Order: sequence, then structure tokens, then C-alpha cells
Amino acid sequence: MILVTGGAGYIGSHACVALLSAGEDVVVFDNFSNSSPKALDRVQAICGKPLAVVEGDVRDQAALEKALSEHGCTAVMHFAGLKSVQDSVAEPLEYYDQNVIGSHRLLRAMRATGVRKIVFSSSATVYGTPQFLPYTEQHPLKAVNPYGRTKLVIEEMLRDQHVSDPSWGIAILRYFNPVGAHESGLIGEDPKGVPNNLVPFVAQVAIGRRDRLNIWGNDYNTPDGTGVRDYIHVMDLADGHVSALKLLDTPQCFAVNLGTGAGSSVLDVIRAFEAASGRPIPYDIKPRRPGDIDAYYAATDYATRLLGWKAVRSLETMCADHWRWQSSNPNGYA
Ligand code: NAD
Ligand code: UD1
Repeated sequence: MILVTGGAGYIGSHACVALLSAGEDVVVFDNFSNSSPKALDRVQAICGKPLAVVEGDVRDQAALEKALSEHGCTAVMHFAGLKSVQDSVAEPLEYYDQNVIGSHRLLRAMRATGVRKIVFSSSATVYGTPQFLPYTEQHPLKAVNPYGRTKLVIEEMLRDQHVSDPSWGIAILRYFNPVGAHESGLIGEDPKGVPNNLVPFVAQVAIGRRDRLNIWGNDYNTPDGTGVRDYIHVMDLADGHVSALKLLDTPQCFAVNLGTGAGSSVLDVIRAFEAASGRPIPYDIKPRRPGDIDAYYAATDYATRLLGWKAVRSLETMCADHWRWQSSNPNGYA
């Protein structure tokens, strides 16, 4: 039985599908602060298999211990946390509380119940400003905003825990830019309010919820002047988690990139989404967004070697699947 914190969220719900499809049993632990329980009904519909649900907060160690022991958990996938860079600058204490304290309580609950395998959602943001590209796992770590610093602190806490007790199995997964949705169109990303991220915003323009996209800068040092990122299909990402979990049968601690290795510009994404949706995406060029960098993408060799995993879905598939979810659920789960 795998405890999935934040399992009702965007990436967590897709990971639940991947886990159930791989024959694992799942208990989701989520406070639904940024998600809907409906996502879990959909996960069960996709897989034709039930999962258990515990409503709770990851800062509640007693509730975690109860869930871990009552469900006989052998491992944890830890997605629960807050993820907006912008909000983390405005509310750093909230980010340290939910992300760092939440992870700390979770590790204590695991230690108390003898569960020693954890897969953790980190982010490429821990690399900070690129000193070279692609980012390899050896790239210096220097987060440049509170959200990134919470991820870095948690990574260090996990590494320290493994040094103190090498019987733990710890997989730190550094995600690049997850987009897309399960091919069924039943689950997907459902951001609250105005989306900050590119693809959810583009999808809402295509469906008519927003008039136009703002492109934050076209004077970057990239082939077409717009920002370049490594977009990865959320189901490829989810499959990467299952591969990482399997490795933890042997105690070890590793940090690995989950990306495709390919960079796409904002204009590439717009063109691919227009083709997938058959809708125009009108846009305006605006000044750069503070904190944005020209380009970054993943080195993928280590993931291929270590996990025997590779992202296989194209940008076209990411946009087609994202559009299927958006067009069949114009208002998300609401
Ligand atoms: P999400 O907001 O969709 O999912 C997070 C889930 O955790 C939600 O279901 C939310 O209700 C739950 N949650 C939040 N705080 C909680 C708490 N204190 N106790 C219990 N549950 C709580 O986000 P996501 O995009 O699925 O991201 C999942 C993880 O991956 C996060 O840790 C995020 O930082 C990390 N990550 C995301 C991205 C991305 O682009 N989406 C990139 C890199 C890393
Ligand atoms: C952002 C976060 C990053 C986080 C990631 C999650 C910042 C600075 N970084 O990354 O820490 O892990 O989200 O996916 O917030 N763009 C537009 N118009 C928009 C939105 C985005 O032009 O309305 C451009 C951006 O300038 C960027 C690209 O699209 O070049 C991707 O942006 P976004 O989806 O927000 O992701 P990141 O900035 O890479």
C-alpha cells in the first residue's frame, strides 16, 4: 500500500493512475486545499479499481501515523504542498510551514511507523540561474525564491536523514514543466483563479474563458526571443514515479531530473496548442515577468540509466491531451 500525499492534485492524481495501473494499492492523504475529491472518483473510474482516501493535513503527524499504520503502508509518494512562486514571495512563512514543516512531520510519522521509502516532488527550480545547460544533476543548487528554497531545504533534510539511517530509500525527483493530462480527458490540471503557468492559461484562452495570452517578453536570448522550457507530459512524469519507487526496494538516496531534454519556446507551445485545439490563441507581447530566465531544460542521461525511464510523449500529444481535458471539462472539476 502506497500513501500518496496530495494525491488529489494535478500530478498526484496522475501518479495514482500510474500506481493503480502498475498493480499497487493506494491511500490518498490530502486536505483538498487546492484540489477536488472528484479527481479521485475519476481516477477510480479510469483504473476500474478503488483507492482509499484520508482527509488530513501533512502537518498533522498523528493523522499521518494513523493513516500509515491502519493502511499497512510500505512507501510514500509526497506531492502535498504549495507551488506558486509568486505566492511564496508574498507569503513565505506559509510556504515554509506547509512545505518544510509538512515534510518534516511526514518523515517523523514514517520513522515512527517504520515506513522508510519515499518519493519526493522536487523541482528544477532548485538549480536557480543556469550556469550551464542542460541542467545535469550536478549543477550547483541555488534556489532564487522562497518556493524554491523550501524544496531545497526538504531535499537537504532527506539527504541528512539517509546519512543518519541508510536503511531508508529516498527518491528526489526534480520535475521540469509538467503539462498535459491523462488521455481519457477525465483528469487534468484545474488551477484556481488566473493561471500563472503557460499551458493552463493557453488552454483557457482556447476554451474562451480568457480573451488573450500575454507573452512575457520576446527579447530573450532564444531562437525566437520567447522563453524556452522543457515541457513534460504529466503521464510520462507519473510513470517516472513508478520507476523510481521500484528502485527503493534497495535502500539508497538519489536526486534525478524528470524532463524530456528538449526545449520549446512560448511560440512553439502556442502553435502546438492551436493545432491540437483548432482554435486561434491571440496574444500580446508584454514586458518580461520578474524572475523569469531565458531558457532551461534537463539532462536526461542519468534518469535513463538509473530509472530505465524516458519521457516518450511529444509536445503535440501534451497539447492534444491537455485540450481533451479542458474541452470536456471547461470549468475543471467545478
Ligand atoms: P497541486 O496543488 O495540484 O497538488 C497538491 C496537492 O496537495 C493538492 O491536492 C492539495 O490539496 C494538497 N495539499 C496542499 N497542502 C496540503 C497539506 N498541508 N496537507 C495535505 N494536502 C495538501 O500541485 P501539483 O502541480 O500536483 O504539484 C504536486 C507537487 O509537485 C508539489 O509539491 C509541487 O511543488 C511539485 N511540483 C510541481 C510542479 C508543477 O509545475 N505543477 C513543478 C515542480 C514541482
Ligand atoms: C514556473 C515557476 C517554477 C515552477 C513552474 C511550475 C516562476 C518564475 N517559475 O516555471 O518555479 O516550478 O512554474 O510549472 O514562476 N509565460 C508567458 N505567459 C504566461 C505564462 C507564462 O509568456 O501567461 C511564459 C514564461 O515567461 C515562461 C514560459 O511561458 O517563459 C513558461 O512559464 P510557466 O509555465 O509559468 O513556467 P516557468 O516560469 O518555467
